[in-house]
Amino acid sequence: MKKELIFLGPPACGKGTQTNMLSDYLNFPHIDTGSLLRAEIAKETEEGKIAKSFIDKGQLVPVDLVGTIIGKKLASADCKNGYVLDGYPRSIEQAKMLDDINAKVDGEDKVSFKAIYFDIDTEVLIDRIVNRKSCPVCGEIYNKKYKPAKVSGKCDKCNVDLVTRADDTEEIAKKRFETYYEQTAPLVEFYENKGVLYKIDANGTIDEVWKRLLEVVNA
Ligand code: AP5
Repeated sequence: MKKELIFLGPPACGKGTQTNMLSDYLNFPHIDTGSLLRAEIAKETEEGKIAKSFIDKGQLVPVDLVGTIIGKKLASADCKNGYVLDGYPRSIEQAKMLDDINAKVDGEDKVSFKAIYFDIDTEVLIDRIVNRKSCPVCGEIYNKKYKPAKVSGKCDKCNVDLVTRADDTEEIAKKRFETYYEQTAPLVEFYENKGVLYKIDANGTIDEVWKRLLEVVNA
């Protein structure tokens, strides 16, 4: 049965780290709206210019822009057995849009849909954000304190220089948290009411969270 997995949780709760591993484990595409938008910014497309003006303020990018990107991805052949969707939806409006996209793509087919919520103590998150580094080629995520690269500043896999995200400053991170609590956090109740919410404790090491995640995914 097709597995549709979406991930909820505040900035830096570890969604990207875990969903990168999960996509390899399941051999499903990892669809990460933050990275897709940053790729548009890097290419300096019209969509990228619009996205940048919102991301730089820690706000959500307009719903139609993200919806178009996601609609195309979820309808593509590589999602036919399932997908790992990281960073979408981020508002009730986007969640309703996702329901419409899935209904159109899946038709009468039976699917397993899980919304996996990373429950975490928020005081650790700013520290994680300001110490994050990532690989501009493969997207591997590092942390100067919690997941250092083997050779400082270089990706273990690609050996290219690691970069810091433009929105990983303390000031923008605070805005991202405000946006998260206003617009995204209500999705926990939204999916709980639909009976598809799976909460995991996202405190602890990357390995500890991974084990908890696999229990939910394989249940
Ligand atoms: P996005 O890129 O999705 O950012 P985010 O949601 O703020 O999430 P993060 O990527 O910051 O964190 P994460 O949970 O993936 O944590 P990670 O694994 O990296 O979105 C960026 C922006 O794009 C948004 O603000 C918005 O403007 C726009 N956008 C995106 N989607 C949108 C949408 N649907 N609609 C509208 N706008 C949208 O981990 C963080 C750090 O901690 C890393 O350094 C990692 O190594 C480390 N770490 C991970 N796990 C652990 C652990 N267990 N212990 C210690 N350290 C850990």
